[in-house]
Amino acid sequence: MTDTQIRRVAVIGAGVMGAGIAAQAANAGAQVLLLDRPSEGDSFAERNLIAAGALERMIKDGSRGALMSSGVADRITVGNTEDHFSELAGQDWIVEAIVERLDVKRALYQRIDQVRSAHCMVSSNTSTLPLKHLLDGMSDGFRQHFVVTHFFNPPRYMRLVEFVSTDETSPEGLAALKAFNDKGMGKTLITCADRPGFIANRLGVYWMQVALQEAVSLELDVQQADQVMQLCGFPRTGVFGLWDLCGIDLMPEVTASLSRLLPEEDAFQRYARSPELISTMIEKGWHGRKGKVLQGFYRQSINDQGLKQRHQLNLMTLEYQMLSDKTDWPSLQLKKGDLSALVQTDDKGGEYARRVLSRVIAYAASLLPDVAEDIDAIDTAMRLGYNWRFGPFELRDRIGASTFDALLHEEQNRDPMAFAKTAPWLQQASAGDKPGYCQIDGVTHQLTLTEGYQPIRRAEGIVLWSDLTQGQPLIEGQFSRLWQLDDELLCFELSARINTLNTTLLGELDVALDKAIAGHQALLIASSGSVFAAGADLKEFMQLRDSGGLEDYIRYGQRLFQRIEAAPVPVVAAVSGKALGGGVELLMHCHYVQLAAEAQLGLVEAQVGIVPGWGGCKKMLKHTAALYGRERAVETTFNTLKSAQVSHSAFEAIRMGLVADRSAVSMNPDRLLGDAITVTRSLTGKRQVAVGADPRPLIPWQPDAPLADGSYQSTLEQALLSLLNSADAEGWYDAFDQRELATDQDLAQHAACVARMKHLLETGKPLKN
Ligand code: NAI
Repeated sequence: MTDTQIRRVAVIGAGVMGAGIAAQAANAGAQVLLLDRPSEGDSFAERNLIAAGALERMIKDGSRGALMSSGVADRITVGNTEDHFSELAGQDWIVEAIVERLDVKRALYQRIDQVRSAHCMVSSNTSTLPLKHLLDGMSDGFRQHFVVTHFFNPPRYMRLVEFVSTDETSPEGLAALKAFNDKGMGKTLITCADRPGFIANRLGVYWMQVALQEAVSLELDVQQADQVMQLCGFPRTGVFGLWDLCGIDLMPEVTASLSRLLPEEDAFQRYARSPELISTMIEKGWHGRKGKVLQGFYRQSINDQGLKQRHQLNLMTLEYQMLSDKTDWPSLQLKKGDLSALVQTDDKGGEYARRVLSRVIAYAASLLPDVAEDIDAIDTAMRLGYNWRFGPFELRDRIGASTFDALLHEEQNRDPMAFAKTAPWLQQASAGDKPGYCQIDGVTHQLTLTEGYQPIRRAEGIVLWSDLTQGQPLIEGQFSRLWQLDDELLCFELSARINTLNTTLLGELDVALDKAIAGHQALLIASSGSVFAAGADLKEFMQLRDSGGLEDYIRYGQRLFQRIEAAPVPVVAAVSGKALGGGVELLMHCHYVQLAAEAQLGLVEAQVGIVPGWGGCKKMLKHTAALYGRERAVETTFNTLKSAQVSHSAFEAIRMGLVADRSAVSMNPDRLLGDAITVTRSLTGKRQVAVGADPRPLIPWQPDAPLADGSYQSTLEQALLSLLNSADAEGWYDAFDQRELATDQDLAQHAACVARMKHLLETGKPLKN
């Protein structure tokens, strides 16, 4: 391959998977051609109906759906496999995501081979068909450029892609494809051998069969079984909830196809036949979750009062019954993930966990080295492809190696037919009380089959928090830690799970900034929790309001953020998860912002009855003026702030004007820290980072309809509008912090404003008053 970059992607098959993959490739910045079969009719519009319909539905779903931002759809063109087939010639990668039939797929490949460019990679999204069968009889050139890329549904949100290649695969082509899937589409790639179901479906479907059949054999009810599975860290749906989600009618087909392809002695076979209750359910049309209808192991209905009611299926009588109050088994009182205690609890929940965990872990061990390269590959595949909180070997470590060893022996003695021969390496590791993972010199190592513990290999450029937080921090604060990464770089870690910008945390950031300036070091601000920063601390805000300290608090935040902006050293924010209110205002003052693609940003102060007071209004006016012109800045800012809009992606946040143009997006969340460090280093040595000139006066704007309707929302909107419209004179930018402060001081006097804050604190939901 001469050109190692993938810029043009074609996806054939505009169904559930193809449309989602096309969208994610477009989210990654590629030009995408989406083709499906031609429909009846003469005009192009009629013939492109399937692909065009898929695109239209994605556009309708908005940025919560497959497309991360409204502009992304412009990169997708649609067509059909008759009229537009020759356009495949100009592509760098063609993804096949059509019906799961070997003959149909192979007929398509023959056609593709006639038109594809010599460098173009082709891949199939097949979930069951072996690569060697797909390639049978194909030309050498095609064989060298064909792999399996197995995405999970929905392709935007499921981070796993399983890759299957052969010895013949072009190394350059494979490298280009992997780079695009990883850095461009943000996926974690797991290399699998060409075996049925690859890793995730092989183990995931086995788990679904085992968990269902053992629940039936132990006479558990649906809800009890799901509660135990949730305790183990299996998906939140539990096992029966997942059966409903996958479709009760589809699961037996998947299982039968895996069973056909696997050898007789594979442990899967013992659980391959679904119990009779499944065929009865299919006959009755109880297919699980189909669109808005839910009737499977659970049923949702609306009662006489119009309220939603959930029932569970009685597995013996096949009648629906109310969900029971929580069963009071000791096992169900345990903390999630406390597996050592769970498997040692002497009740039905403990028994169920023992049966499922022993089988799943033993089966996972049997996939090495035949299917997967190492235990980390299997654990990662299950976490990212099946939403398990822990992979099977992480489950084993939580149980404890020797406890697991005893448990496995006990289960094998009790039900020998359920197990195939235990993988010898697992036997040895368990007998020797060896965990799957351990830390050696601060580096996570995994147990290998032949070479003891080895460090986990990671793609270059991936930096995790555990890499940065070795040894002692420079400063250990109450809500943060300051790390010295090297002579040139400090990292301020917002260390709570959900960071709120209270006075203490602002003070800790203030000290970190002083240190960075004094040491001529760049400062990277990032959160190790799931929320970058959730804004001001409401409880403190209300206390300060009552004690007269509000003005000082707001001024303190303003001064600190201005100091960040004016700092003579680079200050960069790396943002993942949510950044709300003051959290957004903080990053608005940084010299550069690296955003995770799925970051959700919003100036949500209106929810608690105030306006952004730490420079958020001023910054947003500046950004929207640059994006949409001085005439539209007030209108766009007003509409976003009054309704406390939150973006559903980083790209949307940029379009909303929440982030300046000095920003970039990391599609792969594992690359966020590494990318942010690279960008921070590129800025070091610059005496002061340019943040752009102050904006010129803006053009005032008035909404068509009057705002006053007596509600507090209208009071808030009037205050916001008059604040934003005051940006119409020279020098407005410098004066704006003072105006934001005055507006908030006024608004905070209203009882209705306090009611909003109280309501949000107490219920987690905004009050509309
Ligand atoms: P789907 O039924 O939603 O979509 C298939 C699309 O392919 C349809 O729009 C159909 O019109 C089109 N198509 C069929 N034959 C064609 C041909 N000869 N030329 C052009 N278009 C053709 O199927 P889905 O679920 O999107 O699956 C596609 C592939 O992805 C299959 O190989 C499936 O095994 C695999 N897969 C499916 C997953 C899922 O959750 N649905 C997950 C992972 C892989």
